[in-house]
Order: sequence, then C-alpha cells, then structure tokens
Amino acid sequence: MTRRIDIVEVGPRDGLQNDPATLTTDQKLDFITRLEAAGVRRMETGAFVSPRAVPKMADSGDVFRRLDRSRPTRHIALALNEKGVRRALSAGADEINFVLVAGEGFGRRNQGMSPQDSADMLALCAPLIHEAGVPLSATISVAFGDPYDGDIDPAIVANLAAQAQRAGAAEIALGDTIGVATPWDVQARVARVRLEAPDVYLRAHFHNTRGAGLANVFAAVEAGIDVIDASCGGIGGCPFAPAATGNVATEDVVYMLHRAGFETGIDLDRMIDTATWLQGTLGHEISSSLSRAGGFPTG
Ligand code: COA
Ligand code: ZN
Repeated sequence: MTRRIDIVEVGPRDGLQNDPATLTTDQKLDFITRLEAAGVRRMETGAFVSPRAVPKMADSGDVFRRLDRSRPTRHIALALNEKGVRRALSAGADEINFVLVAGEGFGRRNQGMSPQDSADMLALCAPLIHEAGVPLSATISVAFGDPYDGDIDPAIVANLAAQAQRAGAAEIALGDTIGVATPWDVQARVARVRLEAPDVYLRAHFHNTRGAGLANVFAAVEAGIDVIDASCGGIGGCPFAPAATGNVATEDVVYMLHRAGFETGIDLDRMIDTATWLQGTLGHEISSSLSRAGGFPTG
C-alpha cells in the first residue's frame, strides 16, 4: 500500500502572520477556499494571540466564524494562553494547537514565558480544551535552536513533549522556527522525543531559512513522521524571530513526496495555481521552487 503523508497547510497562519502584505478577511477566506479546493483537509487557519503582538492575526475570530463548514477541513487555531484558548473555542476551532517554547530567549520575547511557563500554561488550559471535546496538539517552537540563546538541549525538547503528552496532547510538532535544523539533528531529536513521549503522534514543522527545509522533511519522513506542516508559496515566518523566513513550501513538499510515490491528497497543479494567485494577491514574489519551475515535465 502507498504510504500516506498528511500535509497541514499553515499558510493562513504562519504564512500570513509575518508577510509584509496584509490580506483582508475576505482575501483570507478566498485563500482558504483555494487551499481546500487543492485538497487541503487540515489547516492552521488563524491565531488567537494578542492583536498588539501579531496584528495580522487580529481578525482570526472573523475568519473562523465565516468559514464554509460544508467542507470537511479541520481548521486549527493557534493559542498560547488561556485567553487565546477561550477565544479559539468560542470561534469554533476544530483543533487547538498550543505553542510550547524550548528556548528562554525566544520564549520571553514571543510570549513572555520560559519553557516551563509554557508547559504550565498548557497544563492549565488543557482541561478547558478537553471539556469542549476539541482535539489538542502542541508545537514545540525553537526546538532546534533559539535566535537569542543558540543551541537547545534535546533534553528540554523531550521534557516538554512528555509534559504535553501528560496534558493530553494527541500530537506534537517539533518546530524549527528559525530554520537551523539539519536532517541528522531531526532524526536524533525525533528518537529522543519518542523515548520520553511514546504515546503521541509526531508532526514536523520546518522553515527553509537556511536551505535545509526539504532535506529535513526527508529526514522526518524517514524517521516515521507522517504529518508535515507546509505553507503555500513558502511564505511566512515568526515576527519575533530576527530574519525569519517562510515554511517549506507546500507545493515543493508535495512534489517531492509524489515523485517518491507517497500520497498526500493534494492536487499539485491546483496548489501551484494557488501559490501563483497568492503571489499576485500579496504583491511580491514568493519563494517556492515549484511556482517557478512547474511540476515534472509530462513530455
Ligand atoms: N488574545 C487577545 N488578547 C490577549 C491575549 C489573547 N490570547 N492574551 C493576552 N491578551 C491581551 C490582554 O487582554 C492584555 O490586554 P490589555 O493590555 O488591553 O489589558 C494584553 O494582551 C497583555 O496581556 P498579558 O497577559 O499581560 O500578556 P503579555 O503582554 O505578557 O503577552 C501574549 C503575552 C502571549 C498575549 C503575547 O506575547 C502574544 O500574544 N504573543 C503571541 C506571539 C505569537 O503569536 N507568535 C507567533 C506564533 S508562535
Ligand atoms: Zn513556524
């Protein structure tokens, strides 16, 4: 049987939160509709964070409330604190992705929390999420390196994963927020996390800032990870990470996986069309390779 790799499209959240352009709520909904038409079934659709911290996500409540619910997509809301969780639940989030942070320096600047503060906050919020019957996942940000503190001890990442498992997270993403991971590091950290959080599914979240994005996806898939975060066009980055750039591009990841015989459920041509539309709508060039080169020549 063909192995299936699920893509979580993060363009509407990680992608748009740091783009120089600001899309209107209508444009965001148009983007989401196009992604769904390209086959996306799980998407990080918005963030319920302070609008002062991340102005581009200020309309996430409106985005969620106006989603076309006749489609089967699972819409994920990002949250970092109790207020965010409450807002996400009342806006109808299908899943909460809670952000843990592995680095002190980034944690203070991004969310005013130490790594342990973020785990404590998750423990505080998890009952609310479980009571609402909403699936909970967690992303461990800066899991491979912190822009202010440098190296991150794999023990910290594994310890956060264990705490997320105890809080009832069904899935944990290892987030390379600043794009410093290498494929070997990916394999080592995945193995370490599995030892200390054996009951959760793992997801991988890579930024292509230093060019190793697709190599890291390869390493994650080889390590048995079946869920990859990616952003249409390769847009994105975190406003609190200096020189941050986008996620691995959905169309680049899908191309690579399809050529290798994996199934993703994504229609590559429609994803490239969506990236082209996005480039026009944002009004600047996007970084994905497939949007320039197109898919494999059919002869
Ligand atoms: N949604 C909306 N507003 C929120 C909020 C949320 N989830 N959490 C806090 N706020 C508001 C508070 O109501 C308060 O507003 P006020 O000044 O008008 O009274 C203000 O933000 C400060 O609240 P406080 O609890 O003191 O938070 P803080 O200033 O320590 O900031 C965060 C903490 C987490 C709210 C903030 O750092 C943040 O939103 N960071 C998001 C970073 C992010 O999204 N990064 C990218 C993805 S990882
Ligand atoms: Zn990210």
